Amino acid sequence: MEKKFGLIGLTVSHSFSKNYFDEKFFRDGLRDYHYDLYELKKIDDLNQLIADNPEMCGLNVTIPYKESVIPLLDNIDENAKGIGAVNVIKVKDNKLSGYNTDSIAFKETLTRWFIETTNASAIVLGTGGSSKAVQQALKDLGITFKLVSRNKDKADFTYEELKNSDAISECNLVINTTPLGMSPKTDGYPPIKYDQLTSKHFVYDLIYNPARTQFLQKAEMRGASIKNGLEMLHIQAEKAWAIWNS
Ligand SMILES: NC(=O)c1ccc[n+]([C@@H]2O[C@H](COP(=O)([O-])OP(=O)(O)OC[C@H]3O[C@@H](n4cnc5c(N)ncnc54)[C@H](OP(=O)(O)O)[C@@H]3O)[C@@H](O)[C@H]2O)c1
Repeated sequence: MEKKFGLIGLTVSHSFSKNYFDEKFFRDGLRDYHYDLYELKKIDDLNQLIADNPEMCGLNVTIPYKESVIPLLDNIDENAKGIGAVNVIKVKDNKLSGYNTDSIAFKETLTRWFIETTNASAIVLGTGGSSKAVQQALKDLGITFKLVSRNKDKADFTYEELKNSDAISECNLVINTTPLGMSPKTDGYPPIKYDQLTSKHFVYDLIYNPARTQFLQKAEMRGASIKNGLEMLHIQAEKAWAIWNS
Protein backbone atom coordinates (compact mmCIF):
# COMPACT_ATOMS: atom_id res chain seq x y z
CA MET A 1 0.00 0.00 0.00
CA GLU A 2 1.33 3.43 -0.92
CA LYS A 3 2.51 5.52 2.03
CA LYS A 4 3.54 9.15 1.87
CA PHE A 5 5.87 11.13 4.10
CA GLY A 6 7.41 14.53 3.66
CA LEU A 7 8.82 17.80 4.88
CA ILE A 8 6.83 21.04 5.18
CA GLY A 9 8.48 24.45 5.36
CA LEU A 10 8.55 27.80 3.61
CA THR A 11 11.59 26.87 1.51
CA VAL A 12 12.76 23.27 1.67
CA SER A 13 15.16 22.80 -1.24
CA HIS A 14 18.18 23.04 1.14
CA SER A 15 17.00 19.99 3.08
CA PHE A 16 18.75 16.60 3.15
CA SER A 17 15.66 14.86 4.55
CA LYS A 18 14.39 13.63 1.17
CA ASN A 19 17.74 12.02 0.31
CA TYR A 20 17.87 10.47 3.75
CA PHE A 21 14.44 8.85 3.51
CA ASP A 22 14.72 7.95 -0.21
CA GLU A 23 17.90 5.99 0.60
CA LYS A 24 16.29 4.41 3.64
CA PHE A 25 13.20 3.27 1.68
CA PHE A 26 15.43 1.88 -1.10
CA ARG A 27 17.70 0.06 1.37
CA ASP A 28 14.72 -1.44 3.24
CA GLY A 29 12.85 -2.43 0.06
CA LEU A 30 9.93 -0.08 0.84
CA ARG A 31 9.06 0.52 -2.82
CA ASP A 32 5.62 2.06 -2.16
CA TYR A 33 6.94 4.58 0.35
CA HIS A 34 7.59 8.13 -0.83
CA TYR A 35 9.16 11.17 0.84
CA ASP A 36 8.50 14.58 -0.75
CA LEU A 37 9.28 18.21 -0.07
CA TYR A 38 6.27 20.49 0.36
CA GLU A 39 6.75 24.25 0.28
CA LEU A 40 3.83 25.91 2.08
CA LYS A 41 3.37 29.68 1.58
CA LYS A 42 1.48 29.75 4.87
CA ILE A 43 1.03 27.12 7.55
CA ASP A 44 -2.78 27.03 7.03
CA ASP A 45 -2.07 25.35 3.65
CA LEU A 46 -1.29 22.20 5.68
CA ASN A 47 -5.02 21.35 5.86
CA GLN A 48 -5.28 21.28 2.05
CA LEU A 49 -2.09 19.23 1.76
CA ILE A 50 -3.56 16.56 4.07
CA ALA A 51 -6.91 16.64 2.20
CA ASP A 52 -5.12 16.21 -1.16
CA ASN A 53 -2.94 13.33 0.08
CA PRO A 54 -5.00 10.64 1.84
CA GLU A 55 -1.93 8.35 1.85
CA MET A 56 0.01 10.83 4.03
CA CYS A 57 1.37 9.11 7.17
CA GLY A 58 3.94 11.52 8.52
CA LEU A 59 5.55 14.92 8.10
CA ASN A 60 8.66 16.69 9.31
CA VAL A 61 8.29 20.40 9.99
CA THR A 62 10.99 22.97 9.32
CA ILE A 63 11.63 26.70 9.34
CA PRO A 64 9.53 28.75 10.05
CA TYR A 65 6.55 26.55 11.08
CA LYS A 66 7.66 24.56 14.16
CA GLU A 67 5.68 26.83 16.48
CA SER A 68 2.88 28.09 14.20
CA VAL A 69 1.84 24.51 13.30
CA ILE A 70 0.73 23.78 16.87
CA PRO A 71 -2.83 25.27 16.63
CA LEU A 72 -3.52 23.08 13.57
CA LEU A 73 -2.84 19.81 15.42
CA ASP A 74 -5.46 17.53 16.97
CA ASN A 75 -3.02 16.27 19.62
CA ILE A 76 0.40 17.26 20.90
CA ASP A 77 2.53 15.03 23.08
CA GLU A 78 3.64 16.27 26.50
CA ASN A 79 7.28 16.64 25.52
CA ALA A 80 6.54 18.80 22.45
CA LYS A 81 3.98 20.79 24.44
CA GLY A 82 6.57 21.57 27.13
CA ILE A 83 9.11 22.61 24.49
CA GLY A 84 6.56 24.69 22.58
CA ALA A 85 7.68 23.45 19.15
CA VAL A 86 6.80 20.53 16.87
CA ASN A 87 9.10 19.06 14.21
CA VAL A 88 7.28 15.75 13.59
CA ILE A 89 3.62 15.13 12.73
CA LYS A 90 2.00 11.72 12.65
CA VAL A 91 -1.13 11.50 10.47
CA LYS A 92 -3.62 8.80 11.38
CA ASP A 93 -7.36 8.63 10.56
CA ASN A 94 -7.15 12.23 9.35
CA LYS A 95 -5.93 13.35 12.78
CA LEU A 96 -2.62 15.18 13.23
CA SER A 97 -0.43 14.50 16.29
CA GLY A 98 2.65 16.60 17.03
CA TYR A 99 6.00 15.51 18.51
CA ASN A 100 9.46 16.96 19.01
CA THR A 101 12.51 14.86 18.15
CA ASP A 102 14.89 17.84 17.74
CA SER A 103 15.41 18.23 21.46
CA ILE A 104 16.41 14.63 22.21
CA ALA A 105 18.53 14.49 19.04
CA PHE A 106 20.35 17.67 20.01
CA LYS A 107 20.84 16.37 23.56
CA GLU A 108 22.32 13.07 22.34
CA THR A 109 24.74 14.74 19.93
CA LEU A 110 25.78 17.33 22.49
CA THR A 111 26.54 14.80 25.21
CA ARG A 112 28.68 12.72 22.84
CA TRP A 113 30.73 15.72 21.77
CA PHE A 114 30.71 18.26 24.63
CA ILE A 115 31.71 16.60 27.85
CA GLU A 116 32.19 19.56 30.15
CA THR A 117 28.85 19.51 31.89
CA THR A 118 30.21 20.84 35.18
CA ASN A 119 30.40 24.62 35.06
CA ALA A 120 29.18 24.54 31.47
CA SER A 121 27.41 27.62 30.24
CA ALA A 122 26.03 28.38 26.82
CA ILE A 123 24.99 31.22 24.54
CA VAL A 124 22.07 30.32 22.23
CA LEU A 125 21.65 32.47 19.11
CA GLY A 126 18.00 32.70 17.95
CA THR A 127 14.71 32.07 19.73
CA GLY A 128 12.65 30.07 17.17
CA GLY A 129 11.45 26.46 17.06
CA SER A 130 14.83 24.75 17.13
CA SER A 131 16.07 27.16 19.79
CA LYS A 132 13.22 26.00 22.03
CA ALA A 133 14.28 22.36 21.52
CA VAL A 134 17.89 23.28 22.32
CA GLN A 135 16.82 25.19 25.44
CA GLN A 136 14.94 22.13 26.73
CA ALA A 137 17.98 19.90 26.12
CA LEU A 138 20.28 22.34 27.94
CA LYS A 139 17.86 22.48 30.90
CA ASP A 140 17.74 18.66 30.99
CA LEU A 141 21.56 18.56 31.08
CA GLY A 142 21.82 21.27 33.75
CA ILE A 143 23.71 23.62 31.42
CA THR A 144 22.94 27.28 32.09
CA PHE A 145 22.40 29.47 29.06
CA LYS A 146 21.68 32.99 27.82
CA LEU A 147 19.54 33.73 24.76
CA VAL A 148 20.37 36.17 21.97
CA SER A 149 17.71 37.65 19.68
CA ARG A 150 17.17 40.50 17.25
CA ASN A 151 14.27 41.40 19.49
CA LYS A 152 15.12 42.77 22.96
CA ASP A 153 11.90 41.42 24.52
CA LYS A 154 12.59 37.77 23.65
CA ALA A 155 16.07 37.21 25.06
CA ASP A 156 18.83 38.15 27.49
CA PHE A 157 20.81 40.04 24.83
CA THR A 158 20.33 41.66 21.46
CA TYR A 159 23.30 41.11 19.13
CA GLU A 160 24.44 44.69 19.85
CA GLU A 161 24.31 44.09 23.61
CA LEU A 162 26.16 40.79 23.21
CA LYS A 163 28.96 42.55 21.33
CA ASN A 164 29.32 45.01 24.19
CA SER A 165 29.51 42.28 26.84
CA ASP A 166 31.94 39.55 27.89
CA ALA A 167 29.26 36.87 27.64
CA ILE A 168 31.00 34.92 24.85
CA SER A 169 34.35 35.01 26.65
CA GLU A 170 32.66 33.78 29.83
CA CYS A 171 30.78 30.81 28.30
CA ASN A 172 32.24 27.63 26.81
CA LEU A 173 29.45 26.62 24.40
CA VAL A 174 27.93 28.74 21.59
CA ILE A 175 24.99 27.37 19.59
CA ASN A 176 23.57 28.86 16.40
CA THR A 177 19.88 28.10 15.92
CA THR A 178 19.32 30.89 13.36
CA PRO A 179 19.23 30.22 9.60
CA LEU A 180 22.12 32.68 9.00
CA GLY A 181 24.60 30.99 6.64
CA MET A 182 22.22 28.26 5.47
CA SER A 183 22.22 27.34 1.78
CA PRO A 184 21.62 29.16 -0.58
CA LYS A 185 22.60 32.29 1.43
CA THR A 186 25.92 30.84 2.52
CA ASP A 187 27.63 34.24 2.95
CA GLY A 188 25.63 35.04 6.08
CA TYR A 189 26.73 34.55 9.67
CA PRO A 190 25.51 35.67 13.10
CA PRO A 191 26.90 39.10 14.04
CA ILE A 192 28.88 38.19 17.17
CA LYS A 193 32.42 39.09 18.23
CA TYR A 194 34.36 36.12 16.88
CA ASP A 195 37.60 37.36 18.46
CA GLN A 196 36.13 36.45 21.86
CA LEU A 197 36.24 32.77 20.87
CA THR A 198 39.20 30.66 21.95
CA SER A 199 40.27 27.01 22.07
CA LYS A 200 38.15 26.52 25.24
CA HIS A 201 34.94 27.07 23.22
CA PHE A 202 32.67 24.46 21.66
CA VAL A 203 30.70 25.99 18.78
CA TYR A 204 27.67 24.12 17.43
CA ASP A 205 25.74 25.17 14.31
CA LEU A 206 22.38 23.43 13.76
CA ILE A 207 22.79 24.12 10.02
CA TYR A 208 24.19 21.16 8.06
CA ASN A 209 24.05 22.60 4.53
CA PRO A 210 26.73 23.80 3.95
CA ALA A 211 28.73 21.49 6.20
CA ARG A 212 31.02 24.31 7.30
CA THR A 213 29.13 27.59 7.56
CA GLN A 214 30.90 30.95 7.81
CA PHE A 215 30.00 30.79 11.53
CA LEU A 216 31.85 27.49 11.99
CA GLN A 217 34.79 28.59 9.83
CA LYS A 218 35.25 31.77 11.85
CA ALA A 219 35.04 29.81 15.11
CA GLU A 220 37.53 27.22 13.86
CA MET A 221 39.96 29.97 12.92
CA ARG A 222 39.89 31.06 16.56
CA GLY A 223 40.79 27.51 17.68
CA ALA A 224 37.29 26.47 18.85
CA SER A 225 35.95 22.91 18.50
CA ILE A 226 33.17 22.92 15.93
CA LYS A 227 30.17 20.76 15.07
CA ASN A 228 27.46 21.04 12.40
CA GLY A 229 23.84 19.79 12.47
CA LEU A 230 24.17 16.70 10.28
CA GLU A 231 24.35 14.11 13.07
CA MET A 232 21.38 15.81 14.77
CA LEU A 233 19.42 15.68 11.49
CA HIS A 234 20.00 11.92 11.18
CA ILE A 235 19.08 11.17 14.80
CA GLN A 236 15.90 13.29 14.72
CA ALA A 237 14.92 11.59 11.43
CA GLU A 238 15.33 8.08 12.91
CA LYS A 239 13.26 9.10 15.91
CA ALA A 240 10.58 10.53 13.58
CA TRP A 241 10.56 7.21 11.69
CA ALA A 242 10.00 5.34 14.96
CA ILE A 243 7.05 7.64 15.79
CA TRP A 244 5.44 7.19 12.35
CA ASN A 245 5.70 3.41 12.75
CA SER A 246 4.53 3.22 16.35
N1 LIG B 1 20.30 19.81 12.21
C1 LIG B 1 19.03 19.67 12.47
O1 LIG B 1 18.51 18.56 12.68
C2 LIG B 1 18.18 20.90 12.58
C3 LIG B 1 16.99 20.84 13.33
C4 LIG B 1 16.24 22.01 13.45
C5 LIG B 1 16.64 23.17 12.83
N2 LIG B 1 17.78 23.19 12.10
C6 LIG B 1 18.21 24.46 11.46
O2 LIG B 1 18.08 25.51 12.39
C7 LIG B 1 17.74 26.72 11.72
C8 LIG B 1 16.51 27.37 12.37
O3 LIG B 1 15.37 26.55 12.19
P1 LIG B 1 14.01 26.82 13.03
O4 LIG B 1 13.06 25.78 12.60
O5 LIG B 1 14.32 27.01 14.48
O6 LIG B 1 13.55 28.24 12.43
P2 LIG B 1 12.62 29.33 13.13
O7 LIG B 1 11.61 28.70 14.00
O8 LIG B 1 12.16 30.23 12.04
O9 LIG B 1 13.63 30.13 14.07
C9 LIG B 1 14.80 30.74 13.61
C10 LIG B 1 15.17 31.89 14.54
O10 LIG B 1 16.36 32.46 14.04
C11 LIG B 1 16.33 33.86 14.21
N3 LIG B 1 16.49 34.49 12.89
C12 LIG B 1 15.74 34.30 11.77
N4 LIG B 1 16.18 35.07 10.77
C13 LIG B 1 17.24 35.77 11.28
C14 LIG B 1 18.12 36.75 10.75
N5 LIG B 1 18.00 37.19 9.48
N6 LIG B 1 19.08 37.27 11.56
C15 LIG B 1 19.21 36.86 12.84
N7 LIG B 1 18.40 35.92 13.39
C16 LIG B 1 17.44 35.39 12.62
C17 LIG B 1 14.96 34.23 14.80
O11 LIG B 1 15.14 34.48 16.18
P3 LIG B 1 15.00 35.99 16.76
O12 LIG B 1 13.72 36.52 16.17
O13 LIG B 1 14.95 35.79 18.21
O14 LIG B 1 16.20 36.78 16.31
C18 LIG B 1 14.12 33.01 14.56
O15 LIG B 1 13.18 32.79 15.56
C19 LIG B 1 17.54 26.35 10.25
O16 LIG B 1 18.73 26.65 9.56
C20 LIG B 1 17.30 24.85 10.30
O17 LIG B 1 17.69 24.20 9.11
C21 LIG B 1 18.56 22.08 11.97
